[in-house]
Amino acid sequence: MKVGIDFGTTHTVAAVVDRGNYPVVSFDGLDTWPSIIAANEAGELRFGLDAAAVRHDPGWCALRSFKRLLNDAGPRSTVELAGRSYRLAELFAGFLAQLKSDLQHRSNIELPAGEPVEAAISVPANASSAQRFMTLDAFTQAGFEVAALLNEPSAAGFEYAHRYRSTITAKREYVLIYDLGGGTFDASLLKMTGRLNEVVFSEGIQRLGGDDFDEAILKLVRNGTGLRKLPAGTRDLLLEECAVRKEAVGPNTRRFLVDLAAVGKEPFSCPIDDVYAACVPLVDKTINALSGVLHGDVDWSDIAGIYVVGGAGSFPLVARTLRTTFDEKRVKRSLHPFAATAIGLAVFLDREAGFVLSERLSRHFGVFREACAGEDVCFDPIVPKGSALPTAGQPPFVVTRTYRAAHNIGHFRFVECSRLRDGHPDGDVTPYEPVFFAFDPDLSDDQDLPRRAVRRRDDGPDVEERYVITSGGAVEVTLTTRPDRLSRTFRLERHDLASA
Ligand SMILES: Nc1ncnc2c1ncn2[C@@H]1O[C@H](COP(=O)(O)OP(=O)(O)OP(=O)(O)O)[C@@H](O)[C@H]1O
Ligand SMILES: [Mg+2]
Repeated sequence: MKVGIDFGTTHTVAAVVDRGNYPVVSFDGLDTWPSIIAANEAGELRFGLDAAAVRHDPGWCALRSFKRLLNDAGPRSTVELAGRSYRLAELFAGFLAQLKSDLQHRSNIELPAGEPVEAAISVPANASSAQRFMTLDAFTQAGFEVAALLNEPSAAGFEYAHRYRSTITAKREYVLIYDLGGGTFDASLLKMTGRLNEVVFSEGIQRLGGDDFDEAILKLVRNGTGLRKLPAGTRDLLLEECAVRKEAVGPNTRRFLVDLAAVGKEPFSCPIDDVYAACVPLVDKTINALSGVLHGDVDWSDIAGIYVVGGAGSFPLVARTLRTTFDEKRVKRSLHPFAATAIGLAVFLDREAGFVLSERLSRHFGVFREACAGEDVCFDPIVPKGSALPTAGQPPFVVTRTYRAAHNIGHFRFVECSRLRDGHPDGDVTPYEPVFFAFDPDLSDDQDLPRRAVRRRDDGPDVEERYVITSGGAVEVTLTTRPDRLSRTFRLERHDLASA
């Protein structure tokens, strides 16, 4: 069984490969599986459909949008739920194990017990290397055989290519993907030639999605009704009510109504334009990011279309703003806003379809190092943003550097960042857990390198740094000294804020 799985902030969606078709899997009759975890004080956990079923029950506590936590997480990050502390990585793996079990027992597909499930999975274009690793790990632990990890907008691009190939002409062979989901916004410029989809440039906003529209609307309601302090449970109920009402807004809606029975008040009502005004700043951010993706030699006349995917792209203000900012005829909304990414992942997995992806790194990757005998710090970019990554099945992208060690211990502080300014990391910077490596052979068995004093030495060995970047954009570094050939490989993981 081959399946594309889009783990989303709000929904998780699966689509299977079935003889040239890519049907979306339905669970108990629904095309989406809720991205919710619930726990009670006894320490019982529920995931997905089961979690949604108990989310309002007394004694149960629901964790929504936990994909957002992965932005700032490391492998040891924990989260509090119903008075207990859980490892996020374990909750995530448990969630996916339940998804796998529901694929088998509660879905409309035939999946015999024991049949391997080959999965293509995805992360936001702007996800850090650590989020990629955590996602890969969780899927593997849950028993999936992960065949590929793609960026979400790249996957949506395959759905576009599969369905709308005919819109691509020799003159207009670029497509802009606009993906506004529950938690993240991604914009990607793809070049489509034959069966090759090449990602030219990606830009993302890690914390911008439908959840933020719900918050903006709740704020409007609270300001309009003088609702100040709210207990957490009541706030969640109102937020859910705002989301439901927001999803019901259509192009002809004139007034917006929110039921306030949960707080014993009369319903809130306002002109729809007030709701749009509250959401304009959010939509404007996405338009700016989208415009930023058009660069280099590519301009508007080369674009076959803007492809709008993701549930929050259905908000009428989004379509209206896109149409007034860009050429109306070239804005195309996906027929499957929730499922475009999962379908695209399935298309990619289908070798018969023959599509190939050439992906680019969406963030700069580099290392800080001491300079001027420890007086100063410089930044060495190792792999620049926009570097082409290997296609799946090809050998990984490798960068090596060699130099003479100037210290007894190497202390590497790796970071990823969305921009460089004057050669220094800028914008959205993600630090990694520091890596310590003994250049001095006498320290090679030392388990406590971080506590040893770093000393300069003039007779240091030669050091080779070998970076391996996979098609999914994750990075491993192997450090080797010569002539002793002491060597170690480190999987780079995000600096863990929770355990710091
Ligand atoms: N008709 C609609 N109008 C406005 N917003 C909508 C509509 N339908 C769904 N949404 C919003 O879309 C969001 C969910 O979209 P989607 O399922 O694409 O996100 P996701 O894939 O779970 O999240 P992400 O891709 O950000 O991780 C929710 O915030 C939901 O409220
Ligand atoms: Mg999504």
